[in-house]
Amino acid sequence: MKVLVVGSGGREHAICWKMAQSPEVDKIFCAPGNGGIEIEDKCSNVNITDICSLMDFALREKVDLTVVGPENPLVEGIVDKFRGSGLDIFGPSSKAAMLEGSKIYSKNFMKKYGIRTAEYAAFDNIDNALKYVETCSYPVVVKADGLAAGKGVTICKNHGEAESALNDSMIKDVFKGAGKKVIVEEFLQGVEASILAVTDGNTIIPFISSKDHKQIYDGGIGPNTGGMGAIAPNPYCSREVLQDFKENIMLPTLMGIQQEILDYKGIIFFGLMITKKGVYLLEYNVRMGDPETQAVLPLMKSDFVDLIQASLSGKLSDFNLEWEKGACCCVVAASKGYPAKYETGFEISGFKRENNIFAAGVKGEDGVFKTSGGRVLSTYGTGGNLKSAVKYAYENLKKVNFKGMYFRKDIGK
Ligand code: AMP
Ligand code: GLY
Repeated sequence: MKVLVVGSGGREHAICWKMAQSPEVDKIFCAPGNGGIEIEDKCSNVNITDICSLMDFALREKVDLTVVGPENPLVEGIVDKFRGSGLDIFGPSSKAAMLEGSKIYSKNFMKKYGIRTAEYAAFDNIDNALKYVETCSYPVVVKADGLAAGKGVTICKNHGEAESALNDSMIKDVFKGAGKKVIVEEFLQGVEASILAVTDGNTIIPFISSKDHKQIYDGGIGPNTGGMGAIAPNPYCSREVLQDFKENIMLPTLMGIQQEILDYKGIIFFGLMITKKGVYLLEYNVRMGDPETQAVLPLMKSDFVDLIQASLSGKLSDFNLEWEKGACCCVVAASKGYPAKYETGFEISGFKRENNIFAAGVKGEDGVFKTSGGRVLSTYGTGGNLKSAVKYAYENLKKVNFKGMYFRKDIGK
């Protein structure tokens, strides 16, 4: 079968790598892909990104299955358009993708279906929002309603910070339309966890848990990034935590999807906060997480393509999703200066599949690999336990190098 994977990051590299292992797959196109994805068996890049061109391509090439990495095309309706043309595609409809595309929609959904989440209020008027933050106890969290490339959340320690966050978002329009409406939310103290799950609308199956490392510096300090590493499973996800998650978050979410008649055959990402009062849902993403996918897929024992097909045919209840025992760690190598200004175009040495690499900001030129982004690549390691997974991930990273390579030294530690 022919597969099309939409996206260009480390997550998409991991998806292509995993799907290429399926005996059913003959060819994978990644659009637009990156220079590293092409080192995988069966994979090549196609330089297109807009939904209409992707659809023309899928029809022309007789693509049997499309898998979408990032949220934007899902929110823009790629699934509805492909299905309308008779193409099989894995992901939620645009209406279902509102669970990520609008924080107000998703918080209202959580409230309606009794899903445990932080207290909140929604505003489309700055005066009302400013009045409300006068009455809050601090810290509070201000969130842009729409998609803001992961930058729409501000934790405000005091009233002054809340006022500036509201002004930036609603008046200065720093999120380019996405922050005209906002949520003001109770601050939750705890440990974060990410759980991906697959659904066909009738059944929902959680994946092994994982943990992102968002800040740039060791110890979780400094500005947020797109993720500097991930581990799976998440050591804080005890049996009790997982049970609490299933009862109070995952199953009520499935019920909400059914009651709202959302067409959802795809992955749901639950961004969780484990607190002393139980597990809370911070957010939904309607796709796989990055970098979590890079630590989760290496542990998936089942054929990923079979899993996707079971979801698309509504037969997930018969699917036995299996995982390798042990753990996986992935460590991201970034360009010096990231997440602020950085240079690109440096040659990467040791760029080989046997070093367990997933590429993100990598360009291939005549067999030479060069940096082309902030997060350049990651290496992963698997092992019987987290400690050995971490050791192998860092051993693999030592075999790779480029000028200005920066990575955190404490992933999974
Ligand atoms: P979100 O996009 O909603 O996941 O928020 C991004 C990040 O902001 C989360 O991963 C948390 O680190 C933090 N965050 C979001 N909401 C809250 C909250 N209510 N309390 C504490 N931290 C939060
Ligand atoms: N790692 C969080 C995300 O993918 O949004």
